[in-house]
Parts: sequence; structure tokens; C-alpha cells
Amino acid sequence: MTHIIIAIDGYSSTGKGTFAVEIARRLGILYLDSGALYRTVTLYALQHEEIEWNGTIRERQLQEDILLGKIEISVLPKSDGTMRVFLGDEDVSAKIRELEVARNVSPIATLPFVRNFVDEQLHRFGAKGCVMDGRDIGTAVFPNADLKIFMTADAEIRAQRRVLQMEQAGQHPSFEEVLKNVQERDYIDSHRAMNPLRQAEDAIVLDNSHMTVEEQLVWLDAILRERFNLQLL
Ligand code: DC
Repeated sequence: MTHIIIAIDGYSSTGKGTFAVEIARRLGILYLDSGALYRTVTLYALQHEEIEWNGTIRERQLQEDILLGKIEISVLPKSDGTMRVFLGDEDVSAKIRELEVARNVSPIATLPFVRNFVDEQLHRFGAKGCVMDGRDIGTAVFPNADLKIFMTADAEIRAQRRVLQMEQAGQHPSFEEVLKNVQERDYIDSHRAMNPLRQAEDAIVLDNSHMTVEEQLVWLDAILRERFNLQLL
């Protein structure tokens, strides 16, 4: 088992998850999706009516529950490189992908006490080696990560990828609407007060606007061989 920590940050819809899972699977190390933990806290808040119908968050209540240790999150790696996430005893891997969670996760992820809580969990799970993806892994969660990758791609191309994914899921979004959403998320992620999305000084940029996943793996394979004597392919 390799004890390397690889931090993958970047804009939404750049394929961070797909790339990270493939790296974890090929290196045989743990994949940790930090966004899934923010989503799990959001699910807990929804289930306990700590998010009101109009989106208002009952912050004091949520903070108290966190302090009292009521939000128990655990993860379990799957053989395909992905991970399952549990809230208490319940496998919530599918529920955290539902629209209601997606709609409420951004404001929950801006709360400093939530960020501190998620960071603690990520350290607990990943300190012995992992590939972790998110927005602030290389800058805040693991500033001493062995390798930091910052992923980016043209907004129009990311929107086009999202449209394709949504069409495959039976939805019919307009390109303009999806592009607007991509740009809004970029703005929120980059302008948050605590640990906004930004490139770590020692991160390597991967612009995959015109790259397939396989091409990205070839690119990383060369870096892993040179720096760590590890091979992906
Ligand atoms: O990557 P995702 O869509 O699952 O992320 C869910 C939300 O969590 C999104 O609003 C960005 C936020 N997030 C964050 O603030 N910091 C991270 N390290 C990962 C995700």
C-alpha cells in the first residue's frame, strides 16, 4: 500500500472525481470525495429540519449537533475505486446525490464550523494515504500533500459535458442554463470567505478542455514515474 497523498482540486465539472477514482483504482489507494462529506452534512441538516423551506439554515442547532458528535460519518472503499459513505448506520451514497441536497450544499459548505468538521473527518480517513478531490485540499486540508493537481477546463466545454450527463440521465436542460450554473458555481466556490477555491502555489495545472481521461492518465503517469517511482499504466 502506497502512503502517498494526492490532492486534486479544481472547478466544478472538470472531471476531478472520474480522474481521482481511476488513479485510486490503479494505485490501489483510498479515494476520498470531500464534496460527499459536505453533502452528507447537508443531508443530516435536511433530515433534522435544520434547513427551513426557504433555505434558511438553523446554524446554532447544526453547530450544536456537530459539537455533540451527533453527525457520525464513515466511508468504505469499493473495489471499483469509488467510495460508499455512511451517516450513522445508513448508506447514504445515493441520497447525497439527490437534487434537494445539491440545492442546499453550497451554503452549508460556506459555514466555518462545517468546514472544520469536514476537515477533521478527512484527516481521520485520509492521513495514511489517499487520492482526495475537492476545492481546498491542496491549500487547506492537506497543504503538505505529496502531489497537488489543479484541474480546469473552458466553462463552455464543462457545460457541454454536464448537458451530456444530464441527457443521459433523461433530462433536457438548455445549454445556456447549464453554462450559467457552471459560472455561478465557479463564482461561489472562488469567493467564499473561508478556504475558497484557488490554485496552491505548488500545484500542477491540468487543463483538460481537449483531453480524454486516458490522455490525462498518460500525463499523470509520467509525473508519478519521475517523482515517486510509481506507475499508473
Ligand atoms: O464536488 P461536489 O459537487 O460534490 O461538492 C459539493 C459542494 O461542496 C459544492 O458546493 C462545493 C463544496 N465543496 C467544498 O466547498 N470544498 C470541498 N473540498 C469539496 C466540496
